[in-house]
Amino acid sequence: MKTGWLIYSEPDAVKNTSFIDWLKEEASLGGLSLELMYAERFAFGITENRLSLYYDLTETELPSFAIVRTIQPLLSRQLEAMGLKLFNPSAVSSVANDKARTHQFLAGAGIPMMDTLFIHPSIFQIQSMPFTFPLVAKLASGRGGEQVHLVKTERELADALSTHPEQEWILQKLAPDAGKDIRVFVVGNKIAGAVLRSSANDFRANYSLGGMAQFYHLNPAQTALVEQVISYFDIGMAGIDFLLDEKEAFIFNEVEDVVGSRTLSATSDINIARLYMEHIAAKLKKPESE
Ligand SMILES: Nc1ncnc2c1ncn2[C@@H]1O[C@H](COP(=O)(O)OP(=O)(O)O)[C@@H](O)[C@H]1O
Ligand SMILES: [Mg+2]
Repeated sequence: MKTGWLIYSEPDAVKNTSFIDWLKEEASLGGLSLELMYAERFAFGITENRLSLYYDLTETELPSFAIVRTIQPLLSRQLEAMGLKLFNPSAVSSVANDKARTHQFLAGAGIPMMDTLFIHPSIFQIQSMPFTFPLVAKLASGRGGEQVHLVKTERELADALSTHPEQEWILQKLAPDAGKDIRVFVVGNKIAGAVLRSSANDFRANYSLGGMAQFYHLNPAQTALVEQVISYFDIGMAGIDFLLDEKEAFIFNEVEDVVGSRTLSATSDINIARLYMEHIAAKLKKPESE
């Protein structure tokens, strides 16, 4: 039986006990075993001129794979550099967890997205901004809608940026059908299902901010666009999120690396944990080159 680490921060592990139990159960059905590891208990760096990794102060053997459910790009890269197979790979998580990098990476591939500026508050000057208000200002590393602001004036933009003046932001034009978005769940680079998230009283559709979710059937044009986005990544499990235009055509918004499964589970019988474990088991059987 192959063993893998399931890496969570301690607070997130507490919030996600039922998903963790579900993953473990599906892992054992698929001939895998998962060991919950807490991100805070790792120490990593260089010892005697080679990469080193400690867990609870002990230099530790690597398992066959790891499912990374925490956002710590340097830890992910260290694990990979030490030979561990990661789900999602660091190439996915490092792009997905940075909204500027995500847009930069996918631009030029003909994927529709809102016009976007990449800015750093320390050198940003309003007189150099080629866009007009209203705009959406987002912390590049933000999650859960918390650091996403609708700004209508210079003052509101300055107030938004002042919440994290030391980090990168993106400024984006407002999508036509604000308050709604579509999350497409992807497992093993295949579409597992999608939900429409909507909010009656906020331009942000995040479920964690009180948005609603319903199952959503993709039309062929939407499916083709999602598959095109997927083709640039090697996704274990992720959400790919789209805004909508007036005709319900997709406008790419973001890739959610550490995606939750609650909205899909609440609106369908899709067993995303089983799909994920089947994908991992199949990947571990294949030769490295595939
Ligand atoms: N350019 C935009 N126009 C309209 N609504 C947007 C735009 N960008 C984001 N939103 C809304 O805000 C929500 C949160 O933004 P998002 O980019 O997904 O950040 P987060 O990673 O915090 O979820 C989206 O789900 C969407 O409903
Ligand atoms: Mg989002």
